[in-house]
Amino acid sequence: MPHPFPDQPINWRRQVLGHLDSLSAAGVTWLPNAPPLSLPPTLTEAPAAAAPPPPVTPAAAAGAEPAPASPLEQRRQALQMLAAEVKGCMKCPELASTRTQTVFADGPPGVELCFIGEAPGADEDAQGLPFVGAAGQLLNKIIAACGMKREEVYICNILKCRPPGNRTPLPIEASNCRGFLERQLELVQPKFICALGGSAAANLLQTTTPIGKLRGRFHDWRGIPVMVTYHPAYLLPHRSPEKKKDVWEDMKILLARMGRPVPART
Ligand code: URA
Repeated sequence: MPHPFPDQPINWRRQVLGHLDSLSAAGVTWLPNAPPLSLPPTLTEAPAAAAPPPPVTPAAAAGAEPAPASPLEQRRQALQMLAAEVKGCMKCPELASTRTQTVFADGPPGVELCFIGEAPGADEDAQGLPFVGAAGQLLNKIIAACGMKREEVYICNILKCRPPGNRTPLPIEASNCRGFLERQLELVQPKFICALGGSAAANLLQTTTPIGKLRGRFHDWRGIPVMVTYHPAYLLPHRSPEKKKDVWEDMKILLARMGRPVPART
């Protein structure tokens, strides 16, 4: 980021402490251990005020090293930090000024299957979680019909902010948010992805092929098989509920590839 006042020295210490404060306010309690930085002369020349000594934990007092976090726990914490970063994102001025809050995801890293939708709607914007409105209730039923629990899958969206009036995300908004989605998927490491609806599929797979031609077969995102199916909102009673059977066909193909049994429909 360019320095806003180029004739004045950057106060690195204040910037770093401010950033740590905002991470801490967002609930981040852990930071990854990075290799030593080569510091700019302004930081090495100007001695910073002495920092208070770190608190002495019982384990440290006893001379014991704390147990390192498991790789899965490290990914969970890195996702927490990414969510805090998303929370402060101002890349799309219209979305940042109209959102109630950002909507990062629901679910833990390391699960087998990740569902990706388009963008939060009004209910998601209000609650801070993806797929909690009418479309979310239908997604829950789809997940249950597949013999899974919602807590066993990861759910997120292409956009982390609600577009006003639920309009389709603009290409610039999808591209602004893409880095967050990519980092999120790299940390979650799902074995399978299910893209919900044409907009999610088009943005994830960077294609203009219509959903009718994409659905029902596997695509690839960085080596991860991606099933494309209709968006649950499209299946609601006032839209095209007759497409539910197509979604079920798509889910059966996905379950077969996952090596999971296909539950009988009740
Ligand atoms: N539609 C989406 O695409 N995502 C949500 O989170 C809710 C509705």
